[in-house]
Amino acid sequence: MDSKVTGKLLKIGEAFNIEGPLFSYEELNMGNINRTYKVNYIRDDGTGLAKLKPFLFQRVNTYAFKNPIQLMENIDRVTEYIRMKRPDSVNLHFHHTGREDGRKTYLFDGDEFWRVCNFVPSVTFMTCDDLNIIRNAGKAFGDFQTVLADFDPAQLYYTIPDFHDTRKRYEKLEHDIASDSCGRVAEVKDEIDYILSVKDKACLLTDLFNEGKLPLRVTHNDTKINNVLFDEETHDALVVIDLDTVMPGIVGSDFGDAIRFAANYTEEDSRDTSKTGIDLNVFWAFAEGFLSETVDALTNLEIDTLAASCFSLTCELVTRFLDDYIDGDKYFKINYPEHNLVRTRCQIALARDMERKMEAMDAIVKGCAAKYKNVK
Ligand SMILES: Nc1ncnc2c1ncn2[C@@H]1O[C@H](COP(=O)(O)OP(=O)(O)O)[C@@H](O)[C@H]1O
Ligand SMILES: [Mg+2]
Repeated sequence: MDSKVTGKLLKIGEAFNIEGPLFSYEELNMGNINRTYKVNYIRDDGTGLAKLKPFLFQRVNTYAFKNPIQLMENIDRVTEYIRMKRPDSVNLHFHHTGREDGRKTYLFDGDEFWRVCNFVPSVTFMTCDDLNIIRNAGKAFGDFQTVLADFDPAQLYYTIPDFHDTRKRYEKLEHDIASDSCGRVAEVKDEIDYILSVKDKACLLTDLFNEGKLPLRVTHNDTKINNVLFDEETHDALVVIDLDTVMPGIVGSDFGDAIRFAANYTEEDSRDTSKTGIDLNVFWAFAEGFLSETVDALTNLEIDTLAASCFSLTCELVTRFLDDYIDGDKYFKINYPEHNLVRTRCQIALARDMERKMEAMDAIVKGCAAKYKNVK
């Protein structure tokens, strides 16, 4: 154990009133945004024997998250609401600092921003092609949506304004195409032509929401499979984690982004786009899990637009990668100079494949909805 890290963790544990001596810690490397530690404390188990009790200490990446205090307020409201509704389920609980006044769910010294929550014994999957696990991930994100169906989203901050406003994403892209500040526009003419040609179809969710036809809900906004904790033996989903981007939003954004990421045959930045496309078996498994939990909580239009939302979310990401390339790679971390262009091309290949398979995707959603409607 690194004594500097141990010293830091000891101080944090003290601030959050964690009792007992610190025994050991390990850094968990499954995430790629925050710094995460499992920290074991020694507890007396009541019979005089020592027992280890783990906690999760996390240093929030304040470069990625500019409003960490509002972010923690969102997380605290949502997790406490779920705990109140489902006291006997596996839940996340964020510890508070201090003893009386000024109890906070975070410790911020002007530089480092830390939080502490319960550690859930579990397994996480970075990538996964086991359809049973994918179905269970769909169930977990569906359950998250359903348990929060009666939570008023107005109680939450928009910690990232206009995150899934596809129209505004297009506006920024068009503005940056016109400025052409890095002289890259000519090189990406084909990509620009494609993404502009599907603009109205890509903005479907945003437009329906702006017309008042889709309800505002609580959305997770990072619906990757590695943000679900699974039972080590049964692989049932235990709980959804990584609530840093919980905000008011549209349900299709969560569904669409989950599919965009999980159901692609290739990585999201594959250079070989000949294989890029949507795996309908993965789509089906995730949709089945998701709809088995949400079908009675969602409106007909929300269900009818789930498949289309995958196309919207993929195009939205194309606008972001392409815009970043044109604008000189300021936002996304790149590993090589044309990384954002490679990402753009890969997401365009995925979007094109979704266009080809949209009828099948719609039929799968309809079939799953019919299977689970009113069965519970
Ligand atoms: N409460 C928890 N109990 C057990 N493991 C957790 C818990 N929270 C997070 N983890 C593990 O730590 C990893 C990173 O946490 P996460 O909150 O997803 O951070 P990041 O934003 O860096 O992805 C997760 O993928 C998971 O493996
Ligand atoms: Mg994560």
